[in-house]
Amino acid sequence: MTMNLCNMKNLANNKLSKFGQLLNLISWLLGGSILLVILLVGYFTGIFNRTNAIPITETTENKPYKPEKTVWKLISMDAVVHEPDPELVKYGRELIANTAYYLGPKGKVAQQTNGMNCQNCHLDAGSRVWGNNYGAVASTYPKFRERSGTKESIVKRVNDCMERSLNGRGLDSTSREMRAIVSYIKFIGQCVPKDTIPNGTGIWKLKFMNRAADPTKGQVAYEQKCVSCHGKNGEGVKSPDGIVYTYPPLWGQHSYNIGAGLFRLSRLAGYIKTNMPFGATYEKPQLSDEEAWDIAAYVNSRPRPTKDLSKDWPKISGKPIDHPFGPYSDNFSEKQHKFGPFKPIDEFKKAEKKKQEALKNKTQQIKS
Ligand code: HEC
Ligand code: HEC
Repeated sequence: MTMNLCNMKNLANNKLSKFGQLLNLISWLLGGSILLVILLVGYFTGIFNRTNAIPITETTENKPYKPEKTVWKLISMDAVVHEPDPELVKYGRELIANTAYYLGPKGKVAQQTNGMNCQNCHLDAGSRVWGNNYGAVASTYPKFRERSGTKESIVKRVNDCMERSLNGRGLDSTSREMRAIVSYIKFIGQCVPKDTIPNGTGIWKLKFMNRAADPTKGQVAYEQKCVSCHGKNGEGVKSPDGIVYTYPPLWGQHSYNIGAGLFRLSRLAGYIKTNMPFGATYEKPQLSDEEAWDIAAYVNSRPRPTKDLSKDWPKISGKPIDHPFGPYSDNFSEKQHKFGPFKPIDEFKKAEKKKQEALKNKTQQIKS
């Protein structure tokens, strides 16, 4: 059944009649010539030479995004009728889109989160390309994660965001709410083959700058491009009913805590590059890479809730290069791990890894 859903488009095409095929051919030819004219005009007038077009990244760290490569495509919500329990999946989507309404400080099911919605950070209920979507969750979980040093289920990962991004308490794994969220996440990821991470899922990986990100420059850009919605003190704007945010907070007591994914500079900078100011997309970003890094540095220098992180990263060398709290398995400062420049740390880590692999090969050779 799953296969059929995922191949629905192909099936529909196969069923076209001879007449339909002819019509199709004519429209393709027409469409093609119009496109050609547009392209030629565009080329000669230079409108394609926009400077803020998506960069083609070349480091191995960044999975290169090529515009012609197909990006992850969401399975239509219409397909939910084929699920064993469509209502559960729909409830899951609803919880992700309007979390505060159910679980926020005035939640009607329980009161255990900070008032934000999952969707504030996982746009379009976790379905937008490069909008921190859930496209690769069903295909990669359960998976080993260095932060906890354990193999994590989807339930554990969702509760991580409950406790960190929503600065609250996790849901019971048997609760209807958790079952709904998990079934929705599995539903939207069902067409992705096991262990694959399609282009466009998760957060955009921004190229490193040669310098450290600069909160002072970031503040100037923040006041021009973000303040109108998120406020001078990053406090956001509540809707008139006072239950959900129209514009969510970026720092302060109602924002994500220091253990959240967005507290890592690369995550926040990548997220805002392709999604903010609201209305920007990966195809039409509105911030330069430098602005994204600098604004992220400013936002993550502001006060926010703390969290006991003493159990995180049981293996110190497993910390990502932009984890802002020591101890580290290298000699770079906490400040450099927080703001960069990240290239030297990245290169050091890669060299270390190579050394260790070489050592492993050597010991294997000696043994055999
Ligand atoms: C403040 C922002 C924020 C909020 C709110 C938030 N998340 Fe997240 N979430 C993140 C970030 C950042 C990541 C890590 C993404 C990465 O590193 O690529 C993440 C990761 C995840 C992942 C794993 C994705 C993957 O591909 O491995 C799941 C599942 C998830 N969140 C579910 C939820 C759910 C469900 C909620 C609401 C209960 C929620 N999140 C609320 C920011 C947020
Ligand atoms: C036009 C209003 C608007 C502007 C301007 C804007 N945002 Fe947002 N921002 C939003 C909305 C709305 C959301 C939540 C989206 C949703 O729930 O679908 C959001 C969500 C976010 C989030 C994730 C949720 C959170 O609160 O942590 C971050 C981070 C963010 N914006 C940063 C920025 C930054 C940085 C800028 C400036 C470059 C910016 N935004 C400009 C409206 C805006």
